[in-house]
Amino acid sequence: MAFSSLATPSSSSPSSSFTLPTKPSPGAGSLSFSRASTGKFRMAAVRAEAVDTSISPRVSALRPSKTMAITDMASALRQAGVPVIGLAAGEPDFDTPAVIAEAGINAIRDGSTRYTPNAGTMELRKAICNKLQEENGLTYSPDQVLVSNGAKQCITQAVLAVCSPGDEVLIPAPFWVSYPEMARLAGATPVILPTSISDNFLLKPESLASVITEKSRLLILCSPSNPTGSVYPRELLEEIAAIVKKYPRLLVLSDEIYEHIIYHPAKHTSFAALPGMYDRTLTVNGFSKAFAMTGWRLGYLAAPKHFVSACGKIQSQYTSGASSISQKAGLAALNLGYAGGEAVATMVKAFQERRDYLVSSFRELPGVKISEPQGAFYLFIDFSSYYGSEVEGFGTIKDSETLCMFLLEKAQVALVPGDAFGDDKGVRISYAAALSTLQSAMEKIKDAMALLKAPAAVQ
Ligand SMILES: Cc1ncc(COP(=O)(O)O)c(C=O)c1O
Repeated sequence: MAFSSLATPSSSSPSSSFTLPTKPSPGAGSLSFSRASTGKFRMAAVRAEAVDTSISPRVSALRPSKTMAITDMASALRQAGVPVIGLAAGEPDFDTPAVIAEAGINAIRDGSTRYTPNAGTMELRKAICNKLQEENGLTYSPDQVLVSNGAKQCITQAVLAVCSPGDEVLIPAPFWVSYPEMARLAGATPVILPTSISDNFLLKPESLASVITEKSRLLILCSPSNPTGSVYPRELLEEIAAIVKKYPRLLVLSDEIYEHIIYHPAKHTSFAALPGMYDRTLTVNGFSKAFAMTGWRLGYLAAPKHFVSACGKIQSQYTSGASSISQKAGLAALNLGYAGGEAVATMVKAFQERRDYLVSSFRELPGVKISEPQGAFYLFIDFSSYYGSEVEGFGTIKDSETLCMFLLEKAQVALVPGDAFGDDKGVRISYAAALSTLQSAMEKIKDAMALLKAPAAVQ
């Protein structure tokens, strides 16, 4: 991976910072170079078998994903025989629709098993262009589309392609866990813009306006949102666009991966389709969520050509094109019709039923605040009125993390602490699980919450 623009010690000559020990220490078998925290190399006498285990500052700055941590903990408990209900993962519980899976199988049988062009097959990129035209009102040509191994790769490459060290990436919170880390990976600084549950976790235009500086390079919007399920109404996006327009350096990354998982009457608006935004918007979408294709690893970016070329350059030296088999399956997914046709509509209907069940159930819990999600398959619940509660045999519920630990221990339900998403007041519950699973999780959560001190009245 070529990250030569990032701050690394490689540009300074190692020989200029060598320090030779005056007297080799006993047992020293050889000399080796180690990287000090300053980023300079030092030569030290060490035992022959010692290995320099230092990790690059770029990676050391990254934080591990907390969604993974809680999922791993839940799996460990399950392996130990504890019947944990996992509502932490961000993937649909449905199988990939059969016609899509068949297309993948046929791709293998028909010999579509070789490298594809780096940017993706022409037939898939053309199909993506048609989809963007018909469903989003966006006109792109195939050379403005880059197919990658999942939307995650698209976003990482986009951030690396447009951000330089010192730039700021503006991220409304609660945010998808990876955005700030992607900014850090690029040497940029994530600037977190808190939102409020009373505003349905939507970014206020004045809050955006108050943080923009000449360093602001990228605003990341996610609608429908992970982790809140909020959907930005068109009028609000227009207000945001009016602010963005004033700053020529500011680009927008619009993460639209949950586009199809949206509940009536909410409507999806592509940011790039707003007047004046086409030239500065990088639109990311993918197949994982709407088509239940998380394991196929397929996503795409559509943007002005020079941004797509830059992202393609990274991809060409990094992974090359996405799986040839997945691309055939992706084509079949786009052939399902408008917004994924019946297959996707059936899944969305099930998600909506579960959302309705959870929203009404959590509303019965005293002291809990909810903003009804309009899309995706997450509910972000404000439990903060319970913080400070003492539980016998457990300790104090201090924050979202201790609350999730408590619920894992007492209710055997795995949720994700809001802290991971930049909002410690809440906890994310994923309703990508059967209604019956949600019903038993809800009973257990209610029983566990009853052990906590009744919260102060919530306004
Ligand atoms: C908001 C958001 N964007 C992007 C992704 C990445 O999706 P994938 O890499 O599976 O296409 C996810 C997955 O959890 C997500 O929630």
